[in-house]
Amino acid sequence: MATLHLQKHVDYIKSLDKKSDFDSLVTEHLRMSGAYWGLTAMDLMGHLADMDANEIVAWLLKCQHDCGGFGGNHGHDPHVIYTLNAVQILALFDKLNAVDADKIAAYIAGLQNEDGSFSGDEWGEIDTRFSYCAICCLSLLKRLDKIDLKKATDFVARCKNFDGGFGCTPGGESHAGQIFCCVAALAIAGALHHVDKDLLGWWLCERQVKSGGLNGRPEKLPDVCYSWWVLSSLVIMNRVHWIDKKKLEEFILDCQDSENGGISDRPDDAVDVFHTFFGVAGLSLLEYPGVKAIDPAYALPVDIVDRIFYGQENGFTDKL
Ligand code: FPP
Ligand code: ZN
Repeated sequence: MATLHLQKHVDYIKSLDKKSDFDSLVTEHLRMSGAYWGLTAMDLMGHLADMDANEIVAWLLKCQHDCGGFGGNHGHDPHVIYTLNAVQILALFDKLNAVDADKIAAYIAGLQNEDGSFSGDEWGEIDTRFSYCAICCLSLLKRLDKIDLKKATDFVARCKNFDGGFGCTPGGESHAGQIFCCVAALAIAGALHHVDKDLLGWWLCERQVKSGGLNGRPEKLPDVCYSWWVLSSLVIMNRVHWIDKKKLEEFILDCQDSENGGISDRPDDAVDVFHTFFGVAGLSLLEYPGVKAIDPAYALPVDIVDRIFYGQENGFTDKL
């Protein structure tokens, strides 16, 4: 029976921090996402303190533009995905007060369209991924009142399909990645009544293949990252017992590089920080011993989310 090589994964992520290696594995323009994946995995494994918070936050702040949004790296255009990742990293380090929440909220509010959808950036591409990023980020900043939340959730609901799943835009094919975005956005917004839990729960369980791994759509190969996209949605809908948890755990553990650390998409493939994070996050949702609990909607450790919403300095506040 395989076990989690926790220390090897910690060492693997630390090795990515050395600039040249990091850049070769995480393309420069999405370094903000790479940092979020690596740092959240480190926190879930109890090793966030190994990272240099001051250095990372100083780099992160230089990725912010005058409009309030963040780019994926210095000199890169702002986008709602990197803006969410920047806020998530600040939350991990308890440094949310280092930024002007109103300014970030104004940037995100400016991305909302008349039909309630969100563009990812000034160029206008629309996708339910961006609805999730906007809603999650504003919630973490306690600024959900800056958008038309009803219109935002109604748009997400219009992306629901006959199979209970969700796509990128109305009429778009159901895909487990988009399903996470839509279910999590609706959960954060308090609008889960739009989700048909039994129908969607059934579609999501059908994603488990013989090896125990999960795929993102019918007929596709299993992939460790879907341990997150599928499982988080099932946890939010209280249907996680509908899959074989033990077999999924074995699949994730089989995707580890037991010598050099890191987790890959499928057994024996090359590891990367994206799949390392989603593998560890999947194990967290499976309550694997030694891995901290992750919040299935905010994609942050539960203790971080609790600190934001129920922490000392904030009092007992409503998430909205
Ligand atoms: C599949 O990607 C995943 C998605 C479409 C969802 C992406 C979600 C975000 C960017 C929102 C932020 C997420 C978090 C966890 C904070 P893929 O391109 O690998 O799909 P494929 O398997 O079809 O290639
Ligand atoms: Zn993948």
